Amino acid sequence: MRVNTTHTLSEYINVKSTQLKSVLLGVDTAEGTWLGNAVKMISLRFFRSRLRVKNRKSNKVFIKGVHRLLNSSVEITGFGNEIRIAGRLQQCALNILGNNNRIITHENSDINWTEITIIANDSEIEIGRDVHFNGKQSAQNLILARGEPSKISIEADCIFSYGVEIRTPDSHKIFDATNNRINPEQNVIIRKHVWVGAKTTILKGVSISEGSIIATGSVVTKSISENVIAAGIPARPIKNHVHWER
Ligand SMILES: CC(C)(COP(=O)(O)OP(=O)(O)OC[C@H]1O[C@@H](n2cnc3c(N)ncnc32)[C@H](O)[C@@H]1OP(=O)(O)O)[C@@H](O)C(=O)NCCC(=O)NCCS
Repeated sequence: MRVNTTHTLSEYINVKSTQLKSVLLGVDTAEGTWLGNAVKMISLRFFRSRLRVKNRKSNKVFIKGVHRLLNSSVEITGFGNEIRIAGRLQQCALNILGNNNRIITHENSDINWTEITIIANDSEIEIGRDVHFNGKQSAQNLILARGEPSKISIEADCIFSYGVEIRTPDSHKIFDATNNRINPEQNVIIRKHVWVGAKTTILKGVSISEGSIIATGSVVTKSISENVIAAGIPARPIKNHVHWER
């Protein structure tokens, strides 16, 4: 079986469920620009792939230039969803349950033991280029958008240590005495060149500005300004006017 190479394939491999399975399992030997990528994926021990995309005409999966995509699992249930992967992934499970959602990872991002999940409609998770999640299998990262429409945006050149959790929902609704919701889902934005220490949680509505550092074990509940070190529960600036290098 050959993958249709007529459209975006010089840039992206646009695959349907069965095609991706066969590419990843090394069954497909079609030629073309994209083959190099497919072969690289296979030669790098791609194993235990599991891709379930329901409503294949409506949902799209694109893979671009990935040379490490181990133990991956892409599951989409719903309509009008898109997963666009350009970075390396290790034990990735990218799940979508809902409609009109998008998960995008850009070039040279390295997302180790990460699970990325959207359980919502009209939501988006975008990970910029050169973003690295340093992993531990026992302490995976979680990037979660759930409930009402929301967005998680991680800009270029950020580093995340292991066990980091980033979420737009609290996962359960809380109401006040007059029955108004007091904890709605809110977007999370992590600007360029942010370093997030191990076992940190970043909660709804937070924006972390460029160049800042979040100390290990912090819980970030409020936005953090640029070039600071923030630490603790809740995270507060402990040093100003810092910069850091990889
Ligand atoms: C962010 C970090 C690098 C800051 O280091 P630093 O600038 O040397 O900070 P200091 O040790 O001078 O600490 C400054 C103050 O913040 C406090 N502090 C530091 N880290 C803290 C933390 N994680 N939580 C709460 N308070 C913390 C210190 O106790 C100190 O308080 P004090 O002024 O009352 O004495 C460091 O705290 C850290 O988190 N390192 C681990 C990063 C990590 O996860 N790496 C994994 C690989 S990516």
